Amino acid sequence: MTVVYFDSPMSDDERRARLFAGDLFVYSPTAHSQELCAFARELAVEAFAPYPPPTAQHHMDHQSYVDVLARLKPAFINHPRCKELLRGIFEDLGADPEQTYFDVPRLRTMTSDYLNAGLTLQFQPHRDTWFSAPFAQLNWWMPVYSVVESNVMGFHPRYFAEGLRNSSGDYNYARWLATGRATAAQNVEMETREQPEAQEEVQREPEIRVITPPGGILLFCGAQLHTTVPNTSGRTRFSIDFRTVNRRDVEQGHGARNVDSHCTGTTLGDFLRSTDLEQLPPELIAAYDTVPA
Ligand SMILES: [Fe+2]
Repeated sequence: MTVVYFDSPMSDDERRARLFAGDLFVYSPTAHSQELCAFARELAVEAFAPYPPPTAQHHMDHQSYVDVLARLKPAFINHPRCKELLRGIFEDLGADPEQTYFDVPRLRTMTSDYLNAGLTLQFQPHRDTWFSAPFAQLNWWMPVYSVVESNVMGFHPRYFAEGLRNSSGDYNYARWLATGRATAAQNVEMETREQPEAQEEVQREPEIRVITPPGGILLFCGAQLHTTVPNTSGRTRFSIDFRTVNRRDVEQGHGARNVDSHCTGTTLGDFLRSTDLEQLPPELIAAYDTVPA
């Protein structure tokens, strides 16, 4: 059974335990999540002017569209204001800022029937733990503009406890960083990079989709199997997501159970403490940084 909690007053410790067991948490927009989304809209409006960001795709050729994203996304990701607002979101929702480490927030776009590669890649069903994410990882997701059932994320909860045959065994995060990310902007029409994927048919039902207003927060465990729903809404979906770990979980080895992830390496080196942007201690990261056989 997968439980979806709405605006739960549960403590962060209890909440993480429920998330590691496969439950989902949904929150109404908070003061800081609304501010973060407003900031993303501000940057997007400026970048796509004179077109409104959700419909700009209908007015631009593929290359100009990708060129705008190639400037907009890093501007958002690296902006110091985003890091401050993330800390505000943790405080809004009762996560201890001293123990909470985050990976920089991404601004994602999912075009409608348009592009599916590189910077606009649509993710097939996957777990983040196939991509060297720690089992203590939580994912935070929020829409920037209003969303509908045909442009959000889908969860396939039956696979939380059940493994799927997949190619994660070929994936090592450090190796992918060295070769993959630099070429994302070049993959405009077709995705050529190797990514872990399911190697058997995914039974998509039952599927859970969560619709919140802009700035509403969906919180789930990185081991949860999730998909980008094919966008047929006619509007580009803009969303923000980021990942967190609680340091005590990492130190004590808490997290979801591994049912089918065979990748090596770790993304833990990307996480920054929300209070001072310090990384986790190198020896802790090293303890997770396995190498390919
Ligand atoms: Fe994901």
